[in-house]
Amino acid sequence: MSATRIVNLLSASSAASFVGQQVLIQGWVRTRRDSKGGFSFLEVNDGSALASLQVIADQKLANYESEILKIGVGACVTVRGTVVESKGQKQAIELSAEEVTVLGSADATYPLQKKGHSLEFLRSIAHLRARTNTFGAVARVRSAMAFAIHDYFRKNGFVYLHTPIITASDCEGAGAMFRVSTLDPEKLPRTPQGSVDFSQDFFSRATSLTVSGQLEAETYALALGKVYTFGPTFRAENSNTSRHLAEFWMVEPEMAFFDLDMNAALAEDFLKTVLRTVLVGCPEDMGFLASRADYPVHETLQHIIESPFERLSYTDAVAILQKSGKKFDYPVAWGQPLQTEHERFLTEQEFKRPVIVTGYPKEFTAFYMRLNEDGKTVRAMDVLVPRIGEIIGGSQREERYDRLVARMQEAGLNTAEYEWYLATRRYGSAPHAGFGLGFERLIQFATGMENIRDVIPFPRYPQHAEF
Ligand code: 4AD
Ligand code: MG
Repeated sequence: MSATRIVNLLSASSAASFVGQQVLIQGWVRTRRDSKGGFSFLEVNDGSALASLQVIADQKLANYESEILKIGVGACVTVRGTVVESKGQKQAIELSAEEVTVLGSADATYPLQKKGHSLEFLRSIAHLRARTNTFGAVARVRSAMAFAIHDYFRKNGFVYLHTPIITASDCEGAGAMFRVSTLDPEKLPRTPQGSVDFSQDFFSRATSLTVSGQLEAETYALALGKVYTFGPTFRAENSNTSRHLAEFWMVEPEMAFFDLDMNAALAEDFLKTVLRTVLVGCPEDMGFLASRADYPVHETLQHIIESPFERLSYTDAVAILQKSGKKFDYPVAWGQPLQTEHERFLTEQEFKRPVIVTGYPKEFTAFYMRLNEDGKTVRAMDVLVPRIGEIIGGSQREERYDRLVARMQEAGLNTAEYEWYLATRRYGSAPHAGFGLGFERLIQFATGMENIRDVIPFPRYPQHAEF
């Protein structure tokens, strides 16, 4: 007899039709209650849904005394039984057990005995936290969102591209990269000048974990038209915030023949579609997560799905912030990057909907962004949403060879190492654009989870690479 998943048993459309049938379920015990009437209740959760199934085990079962009465919270069981209508108020059906087999016991040291552990504590047992309602729901929503993203691009004619994880180029030019090396740190080979001799390293050069798949994606966009990557990226920045991870997943579409306006329109449609898909597709999990947040998550998402995003230039954004009279921790000045507090003011208070800021000063933006006619700003865009601030960063790319080389030199990059990238501008260059979405920030935004460390199974951040 093959196992039935609890999600199928409990779904409104099938619960009644299962009544009277024999089924087998497999899952982990959330609670056990023993009744004086000579039977026990087990709440069994198999991870297929938020809800658990109530199992009734009668004392007549052969192993009732020897095993069932000793089942601890966290134990894994297989139950064969008959689906019956529940006499209780909480559930429509329950399972009247004919056989309960303990596959794996759990004793009183199981850390998830009591309800209501703090998220900080659960982070320290990330190998078990998926067995809680919150982390089960986050995992299912995360998975549904990943599929919704792939669906969106597939329906819109994009090719899904795998870009390298190990790279010799620094896409963002920020230098916040994790080194990849097989050199023995105790015996580093040296050049005659005394610096580390990476020519003796595995790749005969210095390599790192990628911060973005964009540069490689650009070369494929200039061949296939529309591509996207969806993979892990790494940043060795010492940012201890609720919005930064050292390892996170990024979604990066890249489109030939797109200008900045088309790029912004795609970002808006993409965000709205993915949010709508999970709201419709994961009602129980999204409802549960919303119920534990301290603001109305559904109304916020619904509002965002329905509102046109505000578009505004960086220069106008700076003027609005300066006129606002708000005291910010970081002063606002043209030529300085916008901080999260500024971004949040614009989206939460000034416009009360997502804002797409364009035309940032070239000084603090990446080398690949297309220079505007003013010679001072670039065709960059950031999409800002409430609570998170920047959720997407993107730009129209500099497709003109000479300008690109000039900006790379200004940025101090060794253009010889980027010959392959520059070749796309020498042969059949075309206007193109793209953006990067931080996948965890999107999940944070959709679920109302406060800390980005709680929307990825095993978070990596400064001082933390357990598991
Ligand atoms: O703005 P970023 O740095 O842009 C790029 O990497 C471009 N190459 C993307 C592109 O145009 N193809 O990063 C893009 C997004 C940010 O908007 C943010 O959502 C997320 O990635 N992000 C992070 N998420 C979690 N932890 C971090 N440390 C992040 N850094 C960026
Ligand atoms: Mg950015």
